[in-house]
Amino acid sequence: MWTRRTFCFKYNMTTAGYRKCNRIVAMASAAMVTFACALQIVTADNGIPDDLAGDYCAKVGCCTERRDEGCSAPILGTLCYCDDFCYVNRTGSEDCCPDFMSFCKHVEPLPPEPIIIRPKCSYGEVVNVNCNACRCEKSNGNTTLVCNHNECLIDPSLLDMIKIQSRQFGWSAKNYSAFWGRTYDEGLKWRLGTLQSPEKILQIVPLKAVFHRDNLKSSYDLRKVWGESITDPIDQGWCGASWAISTVQVITDRFVIMTRGLMSDALSPKHLMSCNNLELQRGCQGGHLISAWNWIRKFGLVTEECYPWRPWDGRMAGCEVTNKRSNNDLNVSCPRSAKTSQLRRVGLMYRVDTEEGIMNEIMNWGSVQAMMKVSKEFFMYESGVYKCSNVTEGSKTGYHSVRIVGWGEEQQNGKNVKYWIVSNSWGRWWGENGYFRILKGTNECRIEDFVVAAMADIGDFCNLADRSFKENASYTLNGTKIDIA
Ligand SMILES: *[C@@H]1O[C@H](CO)[C@@H](O)[C@H](O)[C@H]1NC(C)=O
Ligand SMILES: *[C@@H]1O[C@H](CO)[C@@H](O)[C@H](O)[C@H]1NC(C)=O
Ligand SMILES: *[C@@H]1O[C@H](CO)[C@@H](O)[C@H](O)[C@H]1NC(C)=O
Ligand SMILES: *[C@@H]1O[C@H](CO)[C@@H](O)[C@H](O)[C@H]1NC(C)=O
Ligand SMILES: *[C@@H]1O[C@H](CO)[C@@H](O)[C@H](O)[C@H]1NC(C)=O
Ligand SMILES: *[C@@H]1O[C@H](CO)[C@@H](O)[C@H](O)[C@H]1NC(C)=O
Ligand SMILES: *[C@@H]1O[C@H](CO)[C@@H](O)[C@H](O)[C@H]1NC(C)=O
Repeated sequence: MWTRRTFCFKYNMTTAGYRKCNRIVAMASAAMVTFACALQIVTADNGIPDDLAGDYCAKVGCCTERRDEGCSAPILGTLCYCDDFCYVNRTGSEDCCPDFMSFCKHVEPLPPEPIIIRPKCSYGEVVNVNCNACRCEKSNGNTTLVCNHNECLIDPSLLDMIKIQSRQFGWSAKNYSAFWGRTYDEGLKWRLGTLQSPEKILQIVPLKAVFHRDNLKSSYDLRKVWGESITDPIDQGWCGASWAISTVQVITDRFVIMTRGLMSDALSPKHLMSCNNLELQRGCQGGHLISAWNWIRKFGLVTEECYPWRPWDGRMAGCEVTNKRSNNDLNVSCPRSAKTSQLRRVGLMYRVDTEEGIMNEIMNWGSVQAMMKVSKEFFMYESGVYKCSNVTEGSKTGYHSVRIVGWGEEQQNGKNVKYWIVSNSWGRWWGENGYFRILKGTNECRIEDFVVAAMADIGDFCNLADRSFKENASYTLNGTKIDIA
């Protein structure tokens, strides 16, 4: 950890620069200190709010001439100082509190000036600082660490800001080691993967379901009703496959629910990924949801055990299953234990809208797919009720698709907060066991804009079980005929 008197800035730096350096240094290991500070030269002032401005020395109310560990204030898990030692013995910088000069010395900070630092590095050395490659270069006999300038997926300043204000945000953030060292562009490209269809298609007329409001519970969780049969979030790896994973997992859930658990085998996202490869579908580089649903309606899916998912790194395997409409000659070798190699199909995709319409749909028929707009802080979500904030306003966003499996409410600062329970596709190490919760009823991050599903084609199960279930299934949706065969 940061030890006192680890210096990296000249005194006349801006207070903003100091704080930024300070908070990174505070978290970096000793070995990383110089690099972390060096990074600040190249990424100086990227518009992170001045959340650390404020009273430190003013609050502890002391200023001493001699070194005094007691005359200090907590700052980001470490201490800043209000004794003269923090700058008298300076070697090019200090570890004074941000308001030391103004409060103790009555000197206002000088206007910003380019920061010149000379961290010790050996010429030619190459290191990575988060997602940036840095090289130790020589200029006028001094060595300087020069880094490239990517926006990183885990942004330490943003992470701190959310950590400090997690009560106001309503959710907490985490530094995921799987994301550390990756660029934000890589996150957008390989961790999402839903292509935006034209607005016109996204606005297909939603189904008008008729239901009684009173039947809608204030909380509902498919996982509690169906237990293990609701499959765990899959990790898409560095492959933009959310379009395929969310579609296939929704269909798997719907087979479980509509067959009352008779058909509970997970279907194969890889089948969809690698075989729905015409039109504008782009495998690991994203896909359109409507095309995915139509393809499954036409061709059907084999189960996961017949065509298992193996995470790729941006590459897509070719389709190994023959695109046939019949169950014969599929060219899949299901394990001997497999219950079935039948293709599973769905009916027409339909859209549901309104908060209550979506709730009704989930309660009656199972999970639904939702498209959402993702900005940088979402990658760092750890737990709580997520909200799209405006902290990264103006920076790039991407589209992602997810599976809504329920909803609930909780008290936050005396207020009742309603949320959706949503399965992501980053594996169980992310968020709340692979799931996240997001504010419900306010179209947060556009998550209520395009919510779709289809009926599972449970034809052959109807013969096995309750033939009438199929009929009940198609009639409950009042006024709209859903083709399930
Ligand atoms: C400054 O640092 C040197 C060595 O690190 C130390 O001997 C000296 O006492 C310090 N001066 C003050 C005023 O603390
Ligand atoms: C190199 O270091 C010397 C003294 O250490 C300093 O005077 C000079 O300005 C530095 N040059 C650059 C380009 O930083
Ligand atoms: C984030 O985690 C990585 C590895 O898990 C670590 O090297 C890095 O220092 C951490 N960064 C911050 C800002 O905590
Ligand atoms: C059948 O599957 C094997 C791998 O299991 C694959 O190598 C082969 O190319 C597939 N054949 C066709 C016609 O897709
Ligand atoms: C962000 O939103 C909050 C409240 O919703 C508002 O007070 C603040 O000014 C906004 N910030 C920006 C940069 O738009
Ligand atoms: C279908 O509806 C009939 C009559 O309403 C009912 O008796 C039967 O239990 C229902 N079947 C299922 C599977 O819900
Ligand atoms: C179906 O909708 C009509 C009006 O759209 C309504 O009068 C009727 O009661 C509904 N039927 C059921 C079973 O909900």
